[in-house]
Order: sequence, then C-alpha cells, then structure tokens
Amino acid sequence: MQVIFARVAPAGERIRSPGSVVDTSPYGAEDLAVLELRSVTKTYDGKSTVTALSSVSLRVEAGEMVAIMGPSGSGKSTLLNLMGGLDIPSAGEVLVAGRDLSRMSEEDRSLFRREKVSYIFQAYHLMPTLTAAQNVALPLHLAGHSRKEIESRVEAALSSVGLSPRASHLPDELSGGERQRVAIARALVTGAPLLLADEPTGNLDSVRGEEILHLLQRIHSEGGTTIAMVTHDSRAAAACSRIIQIRDGRLESDGL
Ligand SMILES: Nc1ncnc2c1ncn2[C@@H]1O[C@H](COP(=O)(O)OP(=O)(O)OP(=O)(O)O)[C@@H](O)[C@H]1O
Ligand SMILES: [Mg+2]
Repeated sequence: MQVIFARVAPAGERIRSPGSVVDTSPYGAEDLAVLELRSVTKTYDGKSTVTALSSVSLRVEAGEMVAIMGPSGSGKSTLLNLMGGLDIPSAGEVLVAGRDLSRMSEEDRSLFRREKVSYIFQAYHLMPTLTAAQNVALPLHLAGHSRKEIESRVEAALSSVGLSPRASHLPDELSGGERQRVAIARALVTGAPLLLADEPTGNLDSVRGEEILHLLQRIHSEGGTTIAMVTHDSRAAAACSRIIQIRDGRLESDGL
C-alpha cells in the first residue's frame, strides 16, 4: 500500500519530463487540498436553462473526508466537477489554497487537475482500447514516471482493489463492478492530495463496497488524503466525518 500513497511529485514541484523536476507550481505545500466554494451557481444553457447549483458556499479542510448526498439530479456531480476544476462556475468562486480556479489560466487549471486531484467518475471513463493495467498506468505515464515504478505502482493499485487477475483485460471484458474498481485503482495510483469520488461504491456488491470503503478510509487516515465522495449509500456516508446534503441545487444541510 505504501507505494500507492506516494505522491506523483513532492508538493510544489512539477514533473516536466522523466527525471526532471521543475519547481514552477503555483501552490504552497501545506494547503493544497483546502477547498472553498463561495456563492457558487452553475447553470447549463441548452434547449432549456438548468440551474444545477444555486449559491452554494462550503469549505472542505485539508484531511477531511466528506460525503455529498442528495436525490438524483440535485447537483452532486456538478458540485464535484467544480471542486476538481473540471468545470467552472457560472457565478461565485471556487478557491483552492486561496486561488480562484476560474481565474486561473487553462494551463494552470489543468496542472492543478493533473497533480493535485484524482477523480473517480460516476461513469468510470476508462479508455476502451487499453487494458485494466494500462488504464491505471495512464496518469503515471502523463507524470513521466519510469517504467519500473509505473509497473510496481500499478500492480499495487490493482491488487488493492482485488483486480490483479484482470490486469490484462480490456474494459469490455470486465463486469461493471470490476470497471468501477479499475477506475478506483487509477484514481489511487497517483497519491494526489485531493480525491473526488462520484459514487465509488455505486456498482459494487456489499462485500466489495465495504472493502473499497475501508481502502478509502485508509488512504484518508494514513495518506492524509482529503476526500469528497458523492454517495447514496448510508454506510459510505457513515464512514465520513461530515455529510453535505444537496437538494435542488441548494445546500440543504452541512453536518459538521
Ligand atoms: N451538461 C449538462 N447540460 C445540461 N444540463 C445538465 C448537464 N449536466 C447536468 N445537467 C443537469 O443539472 C442537474 C444536476 O445534475 P448532476 O449531474 O449534478 O446531478 P446528480 O445529483 O449528480 O444526479 P445523479 O445522482 O443522478 O448522478 C440535473 O438536472 C441535470 O439534468
Ligand atoms: Mg451524479
């Protein structure tokens, strides 16, 4: 497990190419995963305008493990996307370590996403032409790690989700729950300080779900990873220290 918790690069450093670490990151080392949303509104303009989030303010401290709950369509995935810099708000601010993500250049925001955030998507987003192991290895290739290190980290990550025997399977050759576990392994392999998980146990049976929860709890307690997890599962929520309830795009309650 030790291997998985290792950071892609020490905080405050950026890997440009294999072996060359360039200190150009705009972030401080200590407060990378402090997140603050100030009056955040998100509207989607399509055939009709949807207000997915409406004036949401909250703060997630470094090292917290937070559950986000609410009915389908209430804005949970939208909230997670904004927290991870995958999308920008229509109004309001999303601050990471005091910096407004929507005012960053696209380059800085993508650097933030790549180095500081790992994301378990609700729909997994695995590359269909890559095997389970190659999918997990992808973020490490992007970060420029050596082949040897990638191999050992990928092995440890797949083993931690119980999928070593499926390492060479393509996503099409995996069950839904197995795909979910590949997506989890891919998120864990980088050791990023902020983990955003969109229903990480949604497709797992209760035994596997419990195992994944224990794994997330360990990453949180041993690795100090800040975790925000969307879930419908009351057991998953009970594993968190705080539950944020969203309803109709509004913050209904924040159980600090
Ligand atoms: N790209 C988009 N374009 C238009 N509307 C969108 C888009 N993404 C989400 N929405 C709408 O925004 C609202 C919030 O969506 P979101 O995906 O955040 O809900 P959710 O709480 O994650 O739901 P679920 O539990 O079903 O995953 C929904 O009404 C949805 O239809
Ligand atoms: Mg969702």
